[in-house]
Amino acid sequence: MKNAEDGRRESFEEFLAECPGYEQTSRIDELRATEYSRLDSQGHIYLDYTGGGLYSDLQIRKHMDLLLGNVLGNPHSFNPTSSFTTDMVERCRRRVLEFFNAPTDEYIAIFTANATHAMKLVGESYPFDRGDMFLLSFDNHNSVNGIREFDRACGAITRYIPVVPPDMRLYDRVLKRSLSDVGDSKNRLLAYPAQSIFSGVHHPLEWIERAHEHGWDVLLDAAAFVATNRLDISRWKADFAAVSFYKVFGYPTGVGTLVARCEALEKLRRPWFAGGTITVASVQADKYYLAEGVEGFEDGTLHACRPSRRV
Ligand SMILES: Cc1ncc(COP(=O)(O)O)c(C=O)c1O
Repeated sequence: MKNAEDGRRESFEEFLAECPGYEQTSRIDELRATEYSRLDSQGHIYLDYTGGGLYSDLQIRKHMDLLLGNVLGNPHSFNPTSSFTTDMVERCRRRVLEFFNAPTDEYIAIFTANATHAMKLVGESYPFDRGDMFLLSFDNHNSVNGIREFDRACGAITRYIPVVPPDMRLYDRVLKRSLSDVGDSKNRLLAYPAQSIFSGVHHPLEWIERAHEHGWDVLLDAAAFVATNRLDISRWKADFAAVSFYKVFGYPTGVGTLVARCEALEKLRRPWFAGGTITVASVQADKYYLAEGVEGFEDGTLHACRPSRRV
C-alpha cells in the first residue's frame, strides 16, 4: 500500500516527465529553500510588480558580520575607524557607478535616503524661473509629481503628457510637440519613469536623447525599472537617475542614490545647507560655503554610519 509521501513523489515524477523544463529553474527552488525559507515557513506567496524585492538570509548575515567585525566611526575624519567608514562609502560609490555603467569622468553617485529623496534634491534645486518648464508623463509616481510645487513656486510652467489606454503609453507625436514647444524657457526639465508604477509600462529610454536635442534636462525615475532591468547609463545618458536600493536588493531601506551627470549637477542650487554639505558656515557672519560635488548634496550622516556629530 502506497503512503501519501510515495504518492506525492510519484505524481511529481510524472509531472517532471511531462514538463521537463520545470527542472531548469530548480536553482530558484533551492534558493527559496535556503535563502528565503521564511516564505514557506510563514506560508507566503509573494508577488512583486513594483520593486519591493526580498532580502536573502545571506545579505543580513553579511551585513551583521560587517557591523560586528569592525568598528565603524563617523566618516570624514582622520582616525582609523573613521577612515574605514569613509573608504567603505567611497568604494560603494564606485560600485554604484559601475553597476549602472556610468562613466566616472561624467557621473557621480550621491547617496540619498531613497528615490523620493533623490528626486526631491533635483526638484528643490533645479533653477526654475518664470517661463521655465517642467514636463512630465501622467503616470509618474507622486514623488515626481510633487516637484511641480517647486516649479510653480518659481513661476515656471508644469505640463503633463497623457498616457493613452489601453496600452498606457504616450503618443510619440505629442511628446515630440511638447519637447519642441519651449516658448521663452531657459531651463526645462523632463521627468518620466523608466518603468511606470501604475501600468508597468517601460517607456522608451530613447526619449532622453530626444529631449537633450531640444535642450531639456532629463530626470529619469529608475526606481521600479532597476529592480528587474539593467540601466546602462553610458548608453542612456539621463542627467539625473533616481534609485532606491531596497528595490534592487530587498535590503536595506534607507539607502538610495541620485546618479547625476556632473555638468547637469552644476546647474542645481541647493536651497539650504546642513551638516556635511558645507565647508564653512558662520553664525555671526551669516554666511555659508557649500562643499563641491557629492558632499554638497548629502545631508547629515549616511545610513549605516554611526549617529552624526558632523556640524
Ligand atoms: C516608479 C517609482 N518611483 C518612485 C518610487 C518611490 O520610491 P521610494 O518610496 O523608495 O522613495 C516608487 C516606489 O514604489 C516607484 O515605483
